[in-house]
Amino acid sequence: MILQTFMRENIMGFPERRLRRLRSNENIRRLVRETQISIDDLIMPLFVRPGKGIKQPIPSMPGNFQMSVDKLVEEVKILEGLGIPGIILFGIPEKKDEMGSDAYADEGIIQKAIIALKREVKNILVITDVCMCEYTNHGHCGFVRTDDRTGHFEVDNDMTLELLVKESVSHAKAGADIIAPSDMMDGRVGAIRQGLDENGFEHIPVMAYSAKYASGFYGPFREAAESTPGFGDRSSYQMDPHNAAEALREVSLDIEEGADIVMVKPALAYLDIIRIIKDKFKYPVAAYNVSGEFSVVKAASEKGWIDEKRVALEILTSIKRAGADIILTYWAKDAAQWLRK
Ligand code: PBG
Repeated sequence: MILQTFMRENIMGFPERRLRRLRSNENIRRLVRETQISIDDLIMPLFVRPGKGIKQPIPSMPGNFQMSVDKLVEEVKILEGLGIPGIILFGIPEKKDEMGSDAYADEGIIQKAIIALKREVKNILVITDVCMCEYTNHGHCGFVRTDDRTGHFEVDNDMTLELLVKESVSHAKAGADIIAPSDMMDGRVGAIRQGLDENGFEHIPVMAYSAKYASGFYGPFREAAESTPGFGDRSSYQMDPHNAAEALREVSLDIEEGADIVMVKPALAYLDIIRIIKDKFKYPVAAYNVSGEFSVVKAASEKGWIDEKRVALEILTSIKRAGADIILTYWAKDAAQWLRK
């Protein structure tokens, strides 16, 4: 369709047609610009840890911090002031165990953070990442069964669903505005939707990490969230990077199970996936511009090899152009400042 229109319009060729005419100055370029990244599109990921007065830099993600609740509140007030619509929270608990119990404890780190944020910051969405990997002592995204003889391990899908539902309901009780499950267990969106509805949270949307790939780009995040698996990797539950049709099946199931927003993650190496999902489902699509995508640009810019601001805005624009409505990015705060100028 686009190609046919293009062919028809282009019967007349060079030298009558000169595409450079519409590139000749900034005002003309502004008028014909097809994609515009805006503050309205951005969600800032933040890491919260126990303690007081703590704002500990994350070495692999310059400009990002593990913050105690008091510091987190200060930071979120600034983000609110910049007009950023939402934040997504990741928790580093006091202690980790086999069942990831801090994930669904009333006094858990995320629950405390949500309560403080809801009390002190009025106009920003508090989204919570729902997963077990930050809370389990082995770092996997669910309940792990290990065969003592063979050493073979497996993340138990259906057992994990119960934990994820408890975690989601406990976030909602604390005051979370949107629940975002990132674990990649089968059936979790439906289970969480049902759990929320049964507990009086039918108004809380689910933003599902639907097409979440087993990616090397999560490296810096795992340092930030202290969630590197102690053994094995996540390829028995996260998607294989070679697959695209499977992403459509994942999204289709999540929508059927009640997802309100579907997510693709990572973003940059998966722009094709964002595009096919947007075209096929016409649902709000979020894209997670993940830690590794951020850190490689930071590192190159620190060496003077790349202009960070220019490249970051180019990356965010490309994600939007691919079809994303929402972008989760560690550049959200910087981008909001750049875009306001
Ligand atoms: C899992 C989760 C991960 C990220 C977001 N949620 C890590 C993983 O699956 O290992 C990665 C985000 C990033 O790399 O920026 N709770």
